[in-house]
Amino acid sequence: RTFKLKIHCRIDIHRLNAPFLAIYESLVPAEEEKAQQKQLLALLERLVCKEWPKARLYLYGSCASSFGVSRSDIDVCLAIDGGDINKSEILLRLADILQSDNLQNVQALTRARVPIVKLMDPVTGISCDICINNVLAVINTKLLRDYAQIDARLRQLAFIVKHWAKSRGVNETYQGTLSSYAYVIMCIHFLQQRRPAILPCLQEMEPTYSVTVDDIECAFFDQVGKLCDFGSRNKETIAQLVWAFFNYWAYRHDYANSVISVRTGSIISKQEKDWTRRIGNDRHLICIEDPFEVSHDLGRVVDKYSIKVLREEFERAAGIMQYDPNPCVKLFEPY
Ligand code: GTP
Ligand code: MG
Repeated sequence: RTFKLKIHCRIDIHRLNAPFLAIYESLVPAEEEKAQQKQLLALLERLVCKEWPKARLYLYGSCASSFGVSRSDIDVCLAIDGGDINKSEILLRLADILQSDNLQNVQALTRARVPIVKLMDPVTGISCDICINNVLAVINTKLLRDYAQIDARLRQLAFIVKHWAKSRGVNETYQGTLSSYAYVIMCIHFLQQRRPAILPCLQEMEPTYSVTVDDIECAFFDQVGKLCDFGSRNKETIAQLVWAFFNYWAYRHDYANSVISVRTGSIISKQEKDWTRRIGNDRHLICIEDPFEVSHDLGRVVDKYSIKVLREEFERAAGIMQYDPNPCVKLFEPY
C-alpha cells in the first residue's frame, strides 16, 4: 500500500510543476516596473545630492536581491559619512526635501527600530522606505542576490513561499510572524540541505569578497558565475521542493534544539548559541541565524502564540501539498 501511495504522490507532484511555474512567472515584476524603480531612484539621487553632495543611495531589500515580487515597495539606504551624524535630524530634513518635490505620503519614522522616511511616488505609485547607513542590509542583499544566481529554483521557491506567507497572513513581524528576509534565508538553507545539494555555502568557501561593517567581517565567495551548474546533479523540480519545504517545517524541523544557519550551511544547536531560554523579548521558538549578525535570531519576533499559528500554517500547507486535488489554489487561499 505504501508503495502505491508513493507512486501516486510522485505523479501528482509532477502534475503541479507547470501551475507552480505559472504562479512564479505571474509574480515576477515586468521590465517596465524595474525601469520605473530606477527612475525613482535617480530622482531621489538628484534630490539627495543637492543637499548632501557626498552622500550615496543604495538599493537593498527584495528589489535589489531579485526576490521582489511585482508591486513591491523599494528599500533605499542613504550612505552618508561622518561619525557624529544625527540620524533623526537627517531624516527630518530629508522628509522636508522630498515633500517639497511633490512626493506623496512623506513620513519620517525617527523612533522605529530602523528609523526611516517613507514616501510614495505619485507618478508610478511606487512606495519607498529610506534608511540611513544600514550598510549590513546592503551586504546581506548582495549575498541573497548572489545565491539567487546559482540556481533558478531558489527564486522560484522563495517567490512561492513569500506569496503563501502573504496570503496566509504569516509575513507580519509586528504580529509575531516572520519577515520576507527570514523566509528567503529559510529557502536558501533548505536548498543547501538537499542531497545532492542545490546550493553551496558561499560563506564557507574561499572568500572573493570581503568587507568589515560595524566590526562584523562579511566575507564570502561571490564569483557565482563559476557555480551556475552547482545544483545540476539534483533533478528535483519546483513542485517537489515546495512539498518538501513545507514538510520540513511542518514535521521534520527540531524546534526544541535546532538553529538553521546559512553561514555554515548546516543545522547548529540552540545550546551552542545559548539560545535555549528567553532573554528580554527574544524567545527563540524558531531559530534562524542571520548570516552576518550571528547573535541575531531572525525568529526572535515569534512569540508563544504566533509560533502556534506559524506551525499550524506549515502543517496546513504540507497537508494540502500531500492530499489536495488542487493545491495551487488552496495553498494561497486568503486566511
Ligand atoms: P519584501 O519587501 O516583502 O519584498 O521583502 P524584502 O526582501 O524587502 O524584505 P524585508 O522588507 O523583510 O527587509 C528588507 C531588507 O532589510 C532585507 O532584504 C534585509 O537586507 C534587511 N533586513 C530585514 N530584516 C532584517 C533583519 O532582521 N536583520 C538584518 N540584518 N537585515 C534585515
Ligand atoms: Mg522590502
